[in-house]
Amino acid sequence: MSTGRPALADATRGRVLFGGDYNPEQWPEEVWQEDVRLMREAGVNSVTVGVFSWSRLEPQPGERDFGWLDRLMDLLHDHEIGVVLATPTASPPPWMGRLHPDTLPRDADGHVERWGGRQHFSHSSATYRRYAAAITEDLAARYGGHPALTLWHINNEYCTYDHGDEAAAAFRRWLRERYGTLDSLNEAWGTAFWSQRYDTWDGILPPRRTHYLKNPAQVLDFRRFTSDMLLECFTAERDIVARHTPHIPVTTNFMPLWTGQDAWRWAEEEDVVSVDLYPDPRDPLARHHGALVQDMTRSQAHGPWMLMEQAAGAVNWRGVNHPKPRGLNRLWSLQAVARGADAICYFQWRQSRQGAEKFHSGMLGHAGEEGRTFQEVKQLGADLARLGPHVTGTAVTAEVAVLHDWHSWWAGDQEARPSTRFGLPDLLHAWHRALTEAHLTADFAHPEHDLSAYRAVFVPQLYLLTDAAVDNLLAYVHGGGHLVCGFHTGVADEDDRIRPGGMDARLRELFGIRVLHEWWPLETGESVTCEGFTGTLWSEEIEPADPDEAIPYRGGELDGLPAVLRRGRAWYLSTLPEPDALRSLLARIAAEAGVRPALDGLPAHVEAVRRGELLFLLNHGRDPVTVTVPGTHAELLTGAAVTGAITLERHGAAVLRP
Ligand code: GAL
Repeated sequence: MSTGRPALADATRGRVLFGGDYNPEQWPEEVWQEDVRLMREAGVNSVTVGVFSWSRLEPQPGERDFGWLDRLMDLLHDHEIGVVLATPTASPPPWMGRLHPDTLPRDADGHVERWGGRQHFSHSSATYRRYAAAITEDLAARYGGHPALTLWHINNEYCTYDHGDEAAAAFRRWLRERYGTLDSLNEAWGTAFWSQRYDTWDGILPPRRTHYLKNPAQVLDFRRFTSDMLLECFTAERDIVARHTPHIPVTTNFMPLWTGQDAWRWAEEEDVVSVDLYPDPRDPLARHHGALVQDMTRSQAHGPWMLMEQAAGAVNWRGVNHPKPRGLNRLWSLQAVARGADAICYFQWRQSRQGAEKFHSGMLGHAGEEGRTFQEVKQLGADLARLGPHVTGTAVTAEVAVLHDWHSWWAGDQEARPSTRFGLPDLLHAWHRALTEAHLTADFAHPEHDLSAYRAVFVPQLYLLTDAAVDNLLAYVHGGGHLVCGFHTGVADEDDRIRPGGMDARLRELFGIRVLHEWWPLETGESVTCEGFTGTLWSEEIEPADPDEAIPYRGGELDGLPAVLRRGRAWYLSTLPEPDALRSLLARIAAEAGVRPALDGLPAHVEAVRRGELLFLLNHGRDPVTVTVPGTHAELLTGAAVTGAITLERHGAAVLRP
């Protein structure tokens, strides 16, 4: 919907948006005064309001209480703080479930999800949709002209499922549209297996509890359907606000690498792509997780994107919730800017004293304005104010792409497969980390996207590939591109039907595979020896056909057979090489494709990303480190001139302009 629609630049206007979710309905109004004072002090220029305000805005069915929000919008505007106004539809008031049980979702076992938490709405419920549309309409009518309004935030982290009766009817309608006839549905779902043939549309159910394994094609379609239903909820509200305010951009916040939404499809419907990101400060690979999600979000946005939520300190939903050590909040925020974010926001501004998230950090924590968290937030606000004019609207340079597709994930991530010991995210993380550690910045792309801008394309795993995607990959290689595919790729077609030979025949030819005899998945902790490295998770018994290069397995059942195959510019990896080996292999292939790292000679813990004319250097290590940087630069965070080398403190960062 981007054509002719407003964009993030309409909200940023040369500044990095900085702020967070603001839930003032949890506080007496006197506290609001202190809030705006401290927001100003911290450089906050944007807050997200109303995400969970439905029961406050609509205390009884059809009633409206806008007075508090009127005062709040005015107060924020008076203090030059822009408002990302949310529709409150992620958490319906208790009266809705009580009066309209049809708005409540059911799980696969038929259990109802009730009020008392949040996100207890059925995407298929006509009643829910009617109430959601009405409150959205009234919010848009009332605040569409308010000068504080900068962006619409629809709902929050769409992530629900529903297996109830109304959803079942909607599923049938969706299937009729997709397949037209029952015969074609029966064909696509392979219902000849286990006597599952349908003789009437009414017989089709969402994948509810079954005695034994479910039909995988039915499960795949239910995931597609669920993503589409939630998207309908989003677009219905989006269309309402867009009608009132065609000049104000619209977003909804994704969860990071979340399985429930086809984010490629969703991003097309948004003016601004935004994501919530909560790496674990104790996880040694956290920075790679951050980089992956940021690269993916930027690619969905095709440009600048919004970090809608992160934690200033600890979250409250892990087993043990660690605060962020000094400097880490700033470092990870600058990492997001380096990778294309033009908005750095948090959940939430002021830490709650009550409710399920009272132990979740806020920008202003329980320790108050003297607390370290708030002091570091203030410093970050000042940093971002300095960077804003140089960075906003600029593009990140990426010459390689990693491919990802939700439909393939949905088909591959099911029961009864060769190995359930790992999931697609493990592979995406391993491959993306290898590239990041080689100091190569990657975009993400869909397998049917035009890939011609990339020198090399990496496919950790695409179990399901449509015919169009196979065509696209072949055309990419024939057009001069370098393609590297991981194991169990090209196995199934769009209906999750295994392709003859266990892998698409044209792909087998591309890689030089004559026969793919067997998959040999590995146990957790098991490894296979290959010449020069060890592999984990998986191995394959492949009879090669005239490869240009092969790295063999050594010992074991597959001794002498190829673990890695290359024919021309096409590579196939039938195992997951250990991290060092994967990094050097992918770096070698990228170098052969003519891709250079962001900076030569970088220490392992220093991340370098180029955005526009700027070079971001981020020290993820706990010790200071000196980095050689040829030439003379201005360092934008300190204003210092840098010639030849720069020292980065523990968790330190530098932004260099030539
Ligand atoms: C997000 C959510 C926020 C808050 C946060 C806590 O998933 O959108 O409302 O719950 O998590 O980490």
